[in-house]
Amino acid sequence: MSETVLLVGGGGREHAIARSLGNSPGELYACAGNRNPGIVALADGFEALDTTNPTAVTTYAREVDATLAVIGPEAALAAGVADALDDAGIYTFGPQEQEARIETDKAFQRRFMREHDIPGCPDFETFEDMDAACEYIDEYDGDLAVKPAGLTGGKGVRVIGDQCTAEEAKEYLRSSDYDRVVLEERLVGEEFTVQAFVANGQLRVTPAVQDHKRAYEGDEGPNTGGMGSYSDASLHLPFMDEDDYMDAVDVLRATVEALDGYKGVLYGQFMLTETGPRVVEFNARFGDPEAMNTLPVLNTDFLDVLTAARDDDPLPQLSFRPMATVCKYAVPDGYPTDPDAGAKVPIDDDVIAEVVNDHRKQSGDDPETAPEALLCYASVDDREDGIYTTTSRSYAVVGLAETIGDAEAIAEEALQRAGTEGLRVRHDIGTADLVQQRIDHMDDIRGGAD
Ligand code: AMP
Ligand code: GLY
Repeated sequence: MSETVLLVGGGGREHAIARSLGNSPGELYACAGNRNPGIVALADGFEALDTTNPTAVTTYAREVDATLAVIGPEAALAAGVADALDDAGIYTFGPQEQEARIETDKAFQRRFMREHDIPGCPDFETFEDMDAACEYIDEYDGDLAVKPAGLTGGKGVRVIGDQCTAEEAKEYLRSSDYDRVVLEERLVGEEFTVQAFVANGQLRVTPAVQDHKRAYEGDEGPNTGGMGSYSDASLHLPFMDEDDYMDAVDVLRATVEALDGYKGVLYGQFMLTETGPRVVEFNARFGDPEAMNTLPVLNTDFLDVLTAARDDDPLPQLSFRPMATVCKYAVPDGYPTDPDAGAKVPIDDDVIAEVVNDHRKQSGDDPETAPEALLCYASVDDREDGIYTTTSRSYAVVGLAETIGDAEAIAEEALQRAGTEGLRVRHDIGTADLVQQRIDHMDDIRGGAD
């Protein structure tokens, strides 16, 4: 049977999903609040709509006779869009509202981990009274991470001893209008992400990725949705080993076993600490940017995963191209605190093709590992005279090569060749220097391994 897939969401992550599904037979439709030009070009049809409106999404899904749906953003999951699509008989790869609480309610997430004895859970307490939370900060022996229980686009957390002092954290809580917060043990180490495809109690894991949440180079500045990310040609990252990766997979497996009826992507954000991986959070969807690292190296047909999930068949074993990836976002100047919208986006697929051609001339001729680059549009405004930035992340360039260093060079070259006027990029992501700093940091934490 030929499938018609509806993709919900219009960011860089969804552009990567559209690319991945665009290689499969069948039809692809998409809907999002913004007209992402990359998705519009790949899809057989596109509708601009509010993706947190379950009725609007379901109406469009019916109109295009969707046989499957994939939801990118958490806000749609939190709004019950998967529930509505499932109710309409359209199998949706994305959890229903209740299951999505593993991401959308951090208090629920921590209690769930505790209740089911899932390894890697930090010490935590939840509070509804901000004065009581402040008292806890005063009394706690050590640093805490302060987290609003609800969704904040990755921007609500304050880590005492890292981003702020205890006094500043208390001030933050008192001046906020949060109704529930989680205070938890500060985890120290290196962060990494492992994403898994989950359905019918099964999971299939993908390579580890490291995101860069801080806005500025050298991990300075406020947290963002993610400025860029890299993955290696193996399943793990240079600052970790296979056992660390497998420990993280064990956490995901235990979580999938404890979750009932979960379907979609389960994203584990881990801190690799002195004692191994601990859980920073779970997300109920692909990461953005991490999807842009993972999907381009996935050899297995994404559509086969979706149909197996729907048909209650064993999920296919995944295979990945042995390539490193480096993804760098270009964001508007001033992002995230005071972004300037309206700059013309200077890059297009021709620039990307030129860079790839140059790099292919210098590489070996194994087609599986031939260098590649991808342009993924995110929150841009597609006007008649060109593509313009909005106030969120604008576009990402992903380099793929045999090593992280080469992938970084490709991504950087594409950005430089196009120019980044009015935009900001973390040029340090994936560089040898920054990767070495991560390795040294873990060596310090683990007492100089080797
Ligand atoms: P979250 O929204 O939970 O992903 O948190 C955003 C960022 O805050 C994470 O990527 C970490 O860098 C940091 N963070 C969250 N929880 C902790 C913790 N318990 N210890 C240290 N850092 C944390
Ligand atoms: N990259 C972090 C996220 O997608 O939440």
